[in-house]
Amino acid sequence: MTNSYPHLFSPITFRGMTVKNRIFLPPMKTNYVNAADHTLSDQIIEYYVRMAKGGIGLITTEAAEIDKDHLYDPTILGIFDDSCLPGFKKLADALHAYDCKLSVQLIQGGPFANSGWNEGRMPLSSSPIAHVWNPLETPIEMTKEDIQRYVQLYCDAALRAQKAGCDAIEIHASHAHALLGSFLSAVVNHRTDEYGGTIMGRSRFLLEVVTAVRKAVGEDFPISVRLSATDQEEGGTNEEDNIFVARELQKAGVDYIHFSNGSLYDVGTLLPPTGKYRALNTRFTDVIRANTDMKFGVVGRIKEPWVADLLIEENKMDMVYIGRQMICDPEFPNKSREGRFDDVRYCIGCLRCLESSALGIKMECSMNPGVKDYHLDDIKPAEVRKTVAVIGGGPAGMEAALTARKRGHRVVLFEAGSHLGGQFIIASYPPVKQELAIGLKWYIREVNQSGIEVRLNTKATKELIAELNPDEIIVATGASCAMPKFLTESGHPNVVSAWDIIAGKVHPGLNCVVIGGGSVGCETVEFIAPRHNYREVGGRKITLIEMLENLDMKDGTANRDYLMARMAQKPIDIHCSAKVTEITKDSVTYEQDGESHTIRGVDTIISAMGSVSENGIAEELKDLGKPVTVIGDAKEVGRIVTATASGRDAAVNL
Ligand SMILES: Cc1cc2nc3c(=O)[nH]c(=O)nc-3n(C[C@H](O)[C@H](O)[C@H](O)COP(=O)(O)OP(=O)(O)OC[C@H]3O[C@@H](n4cnc5c(N)ncnc54)[C@H](O)[C@@H]3O)c2cc1C
Ligand SMILES: Cc1cc2nc3c(=O)[nH]c(=O)nc-3n(C[C@H](O)[C@H](O)[C@H](O)COP(=O)(O)O)c2cc1C
Ligand code: SF4
Repeated sequence: MTNSYPHLFSPITFRGMTVKNRIFLPPMKTNYVNAADHTLSDQIIEYYVRMAKGGIGLITTEAAEIDKDHLYDPTILGIFDDSCLPGFKKLADALHAYDCKLSVQLIQGGPFANSGWNEGRMPLSSSPIAHVWNPLETPIEMTKEDIQRYVQLYCDAALRAQKAGCDAIEIHASHAHALLGSFLSAVVNHRTDEYGGTIMGRSRFLLEVVTAVRKAVGEDFPISVRLSATDQEEGGTNEEDNIFVARELQKAGVDYIHFSNGSLYDVGTLLPPTGKYRALNTRFTDVIRANTDMKFGVVGRIKEPWVADLLIEENKMDMVYIGRQMICDPEFPNKSREGRFDDVRYCIGCLRCLESSALGIKMECSMNPGVKDYHLDDIKPAEVRKTVAVIGGGPAGMEAALTARKRGHRVVLFEAGSHLGGQFIIASYPPVKQELAIGLKWYIREVNQSGIEVRLNTKATKELIAELNPDEIIVATGASCAMPKFLTESGHPNVVSAWDIIAGKVHPGLNCVVIGGGSVGCETVEFIAPRHNYREVGGRKITLIEMLENLDMKDGTANRDYLMARMAQKPIDIHCSAKVTEITKDSVTYEQDGESHTIRGVDTIISAMGSVSENGIAEELKDLGKPVTVIGDAKEVGRIVTATASGRDAAVNL
């Protein structure tokens, strides 16, 4: 069997548990569990099985709740009583069939466990300080008796995992989050008894848990703990603190540490979005390695096999934890081992997975729209081989074409432009978004080698489609940048679309007003602003005008946090709650707080006021009497995730 990465694909053993390679899945909450009783569903089992089939060494489940009375959230996986056991047994058996090990992450929600879904029971914490993500509830400060009760709950849960045939457990104590994180972190723990103070006190609860769990599960069962290398917050826990903790954990019977970094105070530290350094937490590994002989793995934007292999070869860590890349492509391990690098569907760091998870809906992936439907096994060979015309080669059209082709249909893909990709192309142009181009490259390669007949530079018309005489037509013609009449008919000689600016079709002048502060408007101002934080002499003046009270309100991820932070450092004049009232040939007037302001000498007005579906052809094609399905932005303006999902759905239902 080919092994392109001998270090990554070498076994490792903990207390008799031999894991066949060094790729470990970190916990990732999916909302695929049976919400009514918090047990493992067939959906989630199939999701993990795909990764096991794909060759991963060890899967850590998403966080499993140990405390029925204080659920982390309404869709959390449970391990709080014996009703949860059969699901874990089924999962363990299913993974073992692929020689994949199973570890269960144990969590108690601490200050995050909102009373709203816990019948009014208030959350618990080290100190009565509201959680950053549950800001309206002051948690109850735990007594020493409470702490002892919870030590027992961790033991009970660990024993359940062991009884169900799971191979190991991971105790969640990272990110200044959940119960143990709230004790460990100096940001949250302000206690003055023996469970607070220095790291010696703050780690006491965790150490008591580990000691008790080790006693309960015996000597043959591996225990790991998830820690943040630092809180990445002023005054928070630092590397030295956590090296001390790691050493103490080892004495208490822990076999390996899963190092993450940062906290929910700045969620991008633990969930690095597009453009953040890959393998960013490796900066901590040398100091950890030098100061403890405990085995450990590190997480955080590790997504290329050659990087992962190098990290093991250089002894930077013992295992690599690879999260989103595995959501995006569960076959990542096998493809990597076999040297099929270009086949890997790379994660673009868009964070839609986290956003959907945090919203409590079924976890979605922009690049892998099938992730939540593996259990349906719905890409079946078509009963009747049809000719399918797909109009538009953006993400919606490409996904529809690929899925239809996988089902055995003849697929003809029309693209008006000279390149596949649609908006996906320019979506990767603004600063820090270059990882999107890697995702697009994958799509284009897949389309080109799948046997789809691609007709570039071909604008589909009713006549062309009639000539092809397809059985099914999928319209994926996308959208265009909105250009409202009050701009185009304003008399200003240089009104341009944000898309054209980003595409480099139009060069912005030296005094630009961008109207619309959604994601595209914000990315456009950053795109045309100086790269660094200075106002150049004679440099470009940029004004951003937004009607709403804040910018980029639709993005709930760390992508937005960092975009806002970068914009704040650049010479951009931002005006929210501001409405454009007049435009002349060289000025823009807007009203804000009841006052009128005029920007003079404006040489470029850039429209970033959303996009408009382009689907006129769908109506025309109805005359052909063939089924027409409209998908993606052509149906409703959305994002890559909605485009790829609708493409897949359309093709599955042909
Ligand atoms: C600047 C920018 C940044 C963005 N950033 C992000 C982001 O970070 N994350 C995210 O999720 N989304 C982002 N988006 C949105 C995302 O790219 C779109 O929602 C997505 O591309 C829509 O996909 P689609 O396939 O439906 O349409 P499109 O991508 O618009 O593709 C439609 C395709 O159809 C072709 N076409 C149209 N008419 C015809 C015809 N008659 N015959 C043949 N071909 C035709 C067009 O040439 C085009 O290639 C961004 C958009 C822009 C403009
Ligand atoms: C959708 C999603 C859900 C997550 N859920 C959990 C969780 O249940 N417990 C946890 O400790 N971390 C959770 N995380 C954090 C991941 O374990 C991991 O640290 C993070 O994704 C960074 O690794 P990556 O860059 O390889 O994706 C979650 C991350 C994502 C994307
Ligand atoms: S949703 Fe985006 S960040 Fe999450 S796994 Fe998919 S591509 Fe990666």
